[in-house]
Amino acid sequence: MKIQTITDMIGNTPLLKIDDNVEYYAKIEGNNLFGSIKDRAAKYLMENAYKDGIIKKDTVIIESSSGNFGVALAGICKIKGNPFICVVDPNITESNRKIIELLGAKIVIAHKADANGSYVQNRIQIVKNYVMNYTNIYWTNQYENEYVWKAYYSLGEELRDEMEQIDYLFVAVSTCGTLAGISQKIKDYFPNCRIIAVDIVGSQIFEQSTRKKHVSGIGAGILPSNLLSAKYDDYMIIEEVDAISECNKLLSKGIIVGASSGAVAYAIQTYTGYLNDLEHKKIVAIFPDRGERYLDTIYDKEWINKIQQ
Ligand SMILES: Cc1ncc(COP(=O)(O)O)c(C=O)c1O
Repeated sequence: MKIQTITDMIGNTPLLKIDDNVEYYAKIEGNNLFGSIKDRAAKYLMENAYKDGIIKKDTVIIESSSGNFGVALAGICKIKGNPFICVVDPNITESNRKIIELLGAKIVIAHKADANGSYVQNRIQIVKNYVMNYTNIYWTNQYENEYVWKAYYSLGEELRDEMEQIDYLFVAVSTCGTLAGISQKIKDYFPNCRIIAVDIVGSQIFEQSTRKKHVSGIGAGILPSNLLSAKYDDYMIIEEVDAISECNKLLSKGIIVGASSGAVAYAIQTYTGYLNDLEHKKIVAIFPDRGERYLDTIYDKEWINKIQQ
């Protein structure tokens, strides 16, 4: 009998066949301990920052995140015993706020929005103020920390062991950490694989959009420097309504996921014309999280009506 420790429940997620007629698979990252792909980053970062002597037991950890990374770091900090300050914005969902607080983090809210409605600049300014004014504080800086994107090497390694061939890989982007880490490994193991980054309308990563973004998890209000470490062949920018309707379609397969998974699933449907030219082609999607935390947003008809006005 192999006894696991709690953080062994991060990684080695299931690879699920999504379509009966096409070789289309998805890594179900919602199966990680705290519910998302970000658990990999939080675990890897904290373990390596300890190993490298960057943090100690009493180091305060600080990060700007309204979502999954905040939850993941709160969980890992709770396990390790480090105090954690999570800088969020008013768009944080009630359930994420409650989980982060339940896991013992102090929440600080940024209220000043940029022109496109993103709070990221204000959130980062608040973090920088803390770092300037306190000692023994460590900003995990998910937009540019090598530990964050190296955490996703593990996804590439798992796929190497699970798949004999991958022709297309679709990855949702926000900090671009997942894309950077997984793409480096996948290009090593499957050099002919085309890697497609999937973003959402309103994000600033690939194009300067003036539209407002509402869904969380995917997209960013800044250009993350993690992108410089990514190897990708193409990108797609998906409308929020299409990502949301794809999430609802996935329900018929018993899969409850967040908008970034819906965006990736929609991108796959449209990228190659889907049914043309896909015989013997193997497609892999990364589904970054579960959908239950979005019951008041993407799975709520009133919320959807409101964002479309
Ligand atoms: C639900 C969800 N999808 C996609 C992503 C994108 O991952 P990354 O930040 O590594 O680009 C995130 C990151 O927070 C996420 O929470």
